[in-house]
Amino acid sequence: MTRFLLTFATREGQTEAIAQRVTERLRAAGHEATLQNAGDKTAVAPAPARFDRLVFGASVHVGRIEKEMLSFVKRHADLIDSLPHDIFLVSLGAAEVDPMVKTDRIAEAQARLDADLPVPFPEAQVFAGALRFSRLNWVERFIMKRIATQGGLITDTTRDYEFTDWDRVDAYADRLAAL
Ligand SMILES: Cc1cc2nc3c(=O)[nH]c(=O)nc-3n(C[C@H](O)[C@H](O)[C@H](O)COP(=O)(O)O)c2cc1C
Repeated sequence: MTRFLLTFATREGQTEAIAQRVTERLRAAGHEATLQNAGDKTAVAPAPARFDRLVFGASVHVGRIEKEMLSFVKRHADLIDSLPHDIFLVSLGAAEVDPMVKTDRIAEAQARLDADLPVPFPEAQVFAGALRFSRLNWVERFIMKRIATQGGLITDTTRDYEFTDWDRVDAYADRLAAL
């Protein structure tokens, strides 16, 4: 039995939903899994006395990884470095229709990770997220309508979209469970 700590950072909730799914799957496989929001004041430190393995999840907005995640990783860099750690990112780039553009977007997300985080996360998993117009303010809605319509991702801007491939999320959780 492995004691996992899953720490996520989200704006519109999709990363939390993915982290929740991974947590449930790890528990179903017989592991102990603690889930927390990096931005919560009650978020615990990734202490080796309490945890064996760390999993992080964060979404990407305007090319940047959520600031709550950056600050959590910076705050606990030494502890994180002392334990096995993995990260997944959630973005729209991973939902790109054109495979070449999609590969470029995923490489950009990994490069951002390498540049911004003080601890190496060599192979981030990148999941396609969601576009929930109902949760965006009018400026965000305006920008995302243009980007997603141009990229051929959406045609109808009056509804919410989810692009996450849940089978990939389950396979990711199963790989973690088997480590
Ligand atoms: C204002 C805004 C900016 C975004 N910028 C990016 C971006 O630069 N690159 C990208 O791949 N996805 C971008 N996205 C898409 C989000 O990463 C996607 O909606 C994701 O599911 C959000 O996850 P969350 O719900 O956990 O915050 C953006 C979304 C919004 C609303």
